[in-house]
Amino acid sequence: MQGATAAAGAAANTSQGLDVAKLRADFPILLRTINGHPLVYFDSAASSQKPTHVIQTLTDYYERHHANVHRGMHTLAAEATDMYEAVRRKAARFIGGVDPSTVIFTRNATEAINLVAYSWGEQNISAGDEILISVMEHHANIVPWVRLCEKTGATLKTIPLDENYGLDLSDIDTLINKNTKLVALTRMSNALGTINNLAPIFKKAHAVGAVTLVDAAQSAPHMPTDVQELDCDFLALSGHKALGPTGAGILYGKAELLDNMPPFLGGGEMIELVTFEKVTYNHVPHKFEAGTPAIADVVGFGAALDYLMELGMENIREHEKEITAYALDKLSQFEWLKIYGPADVDKRGAAVSFTVEGAHPHDIAQYLDSYGFAVRAGHHCAQPLMKALGVTATTRASFYIYNTLSEVDSMCEALAEARDFFKV
Ligand code: ALA
Repeated sequence: MQGATAAAGAAANTSQGLDVAKLRADFPILLRTINGHPLVYFDSAASSQKPTHVIQTLTDYYERHHANVHRGMHTLAAEATDMYEAVRRKAARFIGGVDPSTVIFTRNATEAINLVAYSWGEQNISAGDEILISVMEHHANIVPWVRLCEKTGATLKTIPLDENYGLDLSDIDTLINKNTKLVALTRMSNALGTINNLAPIFKKAHAVGAVTLVDAAQSAPHMPTDVQELDCDFLALSGHKALGPTGAGILYGKAELLDNMPPFLGGGEMIELVTFEKVTYNHVPHKFEAGTPAIADVVGFGAALDYLMELGMENIREHEKEITAYALDKLSQFEWLKIYGPADVDKRGAAVSFTVEGAHPHDIAQYLDSYGFAVRAGHHCAQPLMKALGVTATTRASFYIYNTLSEVDSMCEALAEARDFFKV
């Protein structure tokens, strides 16, 4: 594991930000050509690419260490368990230095939010209660709450958008009231790039006794995360958007909440004693990790966290601000292109959504793909947001550590060509 950390070390340049040219060599997929052109990967908001360090850690785990965790008395079982639990400690550091037992491994942020909705939600929400989210949420932070409201008779409320694609807090003191039991918000919108200042909202939530949840799927890979600073009770993130394998994410929860929550899934590992009449449960976090977990993916996620922490989350944020400012400047020169998201890079991340006059977002994405650019088009799992914006879809270019200003230049050239191609 340490050998591969050297790769991340070589890519880091803590005083002057990232050495992007150097770190690109850590991502084998960037050598690919697509439709005869070098791949330009602008879809990291959907899923990031993986450095060799992560890929080799996965291979090494399977070739040398694999066994089931927490169960065997043999050497491999102990090694696998140590590797798996070491990632829990790493993840705890990554989110601001919390007690590792408050970090639960899930498949992804979606599963983490569903865990809260099923476990905490079904115990704590009833008819008359209110759950507050925002219009800019991803479906992962909408659907579990709609379902919980359907089951319990609670009401779902939403914070609207303001004219700068931020949260409109003008009615927040009405939206957060004595009936509010949960405030669940994204820290960074996957479709707008907006970064939300959550701490003041959560302060109001806590003042009425509500519990708070952060969907950090988009923010955690791109900027520092500190759950104490966010003042949240729960936080969900996905490893696959943060250089890790698919299949490993985390739910952080405050110890007193997790201790009092019933299990989400039942099975092996999450129990203390089982009879046909009664089951008692293991302690947190194991109470929430029924069955064989995604051991290899968690171990690979640990390698991704090493890589990110070695680069420095502040450096990553600075690099993305630079590339996003550059892209916003270039794209805003096209009078036929509309950008959906804040103009100020201090208030946004590196996911840039836009539409091109006269062309469907899917056609733009396909045109770009013909030149090797991978961008996402569609509703971005945010249908209520699209409705609020008055569109059915956008094209989205999202940047990460391995993207360069010259890739943005080439995309802008391809977009100008696409505009001519589709113009009526
Ligand atoms: N949530 C992912 C995205 O925004 C899938 O693309």
